[in-house]
Order: sequence, then C-alpha cells, then structure tokens
Amino acid sequence: MAKRLDGKVAIITGGASGIGASAVQLFHENGAKVVIADIQDTMGQAIADKLGKNVSYIHCDVTNEDDICNLIDTTISKHGQLDIMYNNAGIVDIPFMNILETKKSDLERVLNVNLVGGFLGAKHSARVMIPRGKGCILFTASAATAIGGLSSHSYAASKCGILGLARNLAAELGQHGIRVNCVSPYGVITGMAGGVDEADVPKMEAVLSEVGNLKGQVLKAEGVARAALYLASDEANYVSGLNLLVDGGYSVVNPSMMKLQSSFMNI
Ligand SMILES: NC(=O)c1ccc[n+]([C@@H]2O[C@H](COP(=O)([O-])OP(=O)(O)OC[C@H]3O[C@@H](n4cnc5c(N)ncnc54)[C@H](O)[C@@H]3O)[C@@H](O)[C@H]2O)c1
Repeated sequence: MAKRLDGKVAIITGGASGIGASAVQLFHENGAKVVIADIQDTMGQAIADKLGKNVSYIHCDVTNEDDICNLIDTTISKHGQLDIMYNNAGIVDIPFMNILETKKSDLERVLNVNLVGGFLGAKHSARVMIPRGKGCILFTASAATAIGGLSSHSYAASKCGILGLARNLAAELGQHGIRVNCVSPYGVITGMAGGVDEADVPKMEAVLSEVGNLKGQVLKAEGVARAALYLASDEANYVSGLNLLVDGGYSVVNPSMMKLQSSFMNI
C-alpha cells in the first residue's frame, strides 16, 4: 500500500497514550518521521524505542512555552523541517460536574492544557511553517464542539475554544499555504478514562456504543487516528478549517424524534 506521509515530519503531542499513541503508530507506518511530545516519559520513550530510528521522544509539557519552543527547534535541528503539528495532548476533569460545583481552578487547569497548550503548539509550529509556505496543523477537539451535555463545562469550553482557534488560524495561515483542521471524536476508552482495568474495556466500550448513534461499530483510538491521518496527508490538500466529527452521527441526531415516532405508533 502507498505510504501516505512519505517524506513528511510530524510532531504529535500527547503521543505517549491513547489517540496520540495510535497516531504515532499510523503516521510512522505511513512513512512519516515522528516526534512524540508528552510528559509521560517512560511510555513515550518506550514507543519510540519500539518503532525505531524514525520515531523519537521529547519531554514537553504543552503548557510551558519554553518546552514547546524546544520541541519545535529540536525537531527542526534533527529533521530540517516540520510538515505536521498534531496538537492532541489533553486532559479531562470530572465529567458532568455542575456549574455550582465547578471551581475557577478546575476551569483554568483544563483550559491551560487543552486550549493554551494547543495555542502554543500552533504558534510555534507556524513560526517554522510560514517561511516554507506550507504545513498542516491539527487539533484533537471533541464532539463537545458540536453538541451540549457531553462533558464538564470546563472541557466543553476548552474544546470549543480550540475549534474557534483552529478556524481563525485557518483564515490567517491559509495565506501562507498552511492548512488547519480539527478531529472531533465521540467517546473512546483511552488512558483518559483513568486506570481502567483491561478486562473492563469491552464493557465500557459496549456502554458507549449503546448510547451512541451508529450501531455495529466501536470507536477505538485507531479510528480517530485514521481521520487525523487523512487530514495530515496530501489527500486533504484543499481541506482547511474543517471540524471532522468522528462520532457516528451522534451530534447531528436527536434520538427523542425516534421516541416520538414510536409513541405516536402506540396511540
Ligand atoms: N478519549 C475520549 O473519549 C476523547 C473524546 C474526545 C476528545 N478526546 C481528546 O483526545 C485527545 C487525546 O486524549 P486520549 O483520549 O488519547 O487520552 P490519553 O489520556 O490516553 O492521552 C492524552 C495524552 O496527553 C498527555 N498530556 C496530558 N497533559 C499534557 C501536557 N501538559 N503536556 C504534554 N502532554 C500532556 C498525557 O500524558 C497523555 O499521554 C485529548 O485532547 C482529548 O481531549 C478524547
């Protein structure tokens, strides 16, 4: 099969686990040189060691501008270019926390990683992409950008912020040949679920599938990574400003209409 990222250099933040780790594997299989940026050093380095010389690991806290500068500059020193910046690192707080219980510090913590981290990654990758007149900036946002009630207020605010940032960047950076897009998943069981026993994963996935719209399929980290691969590749050479929802239609379907239909049938 043709390698879809041959000759490209990609950074993937949050690449030590979950969706990011799947993207590392897939981008590598598709010919990219990949730099993993994360704060989980042992896990990130183990992936790099397993995949060989075209994959490396750099410790980078995305909330720290010096770390981000070092990540970009080290990538340029090592590979001479940056084609794809995948801002994927993220955290969640307690799901469905109500507004009266949400502390200002909860909001700030989530915004700091999910929004400020993405902003810094975009800013410093644009610094090296603009002179080349090309590049691709990606974000992992969330289906919470398209529908309310899916997450905590802090998380929803952070991901809607990322979508706004991505669209604004698409406007400015389109002038420099740089594409900017979001991948927005429905629920996936990853490290984010927090210390889940491997044996419980299928049960948790079954619950998500039951609540989800598309039956007969389970969303896995690889499914999200495949959408990111498409956006990162030249197949998407005219795609910019897109929020690619990987949610099986969840955010556009209102299941109450189906209940209404069956209620009418029973009258
Ligand atoms: N899992 C889901 O259901 C889901 C749904 C929608 C969106 N997302 C988004 O997908 C992205 C990846 O999440 P995941 O589900 O793979 O979770 P995960 O916890 O498996 O991976 C997140 C990675 O980000 C890293 N990270 C956290 N804070 C960081 C920081 N300050 N600096 C650098 N790295 C940091 C973690 O160490 C981890 O390796 C996140 O942005 C998340 O919000 C996840």
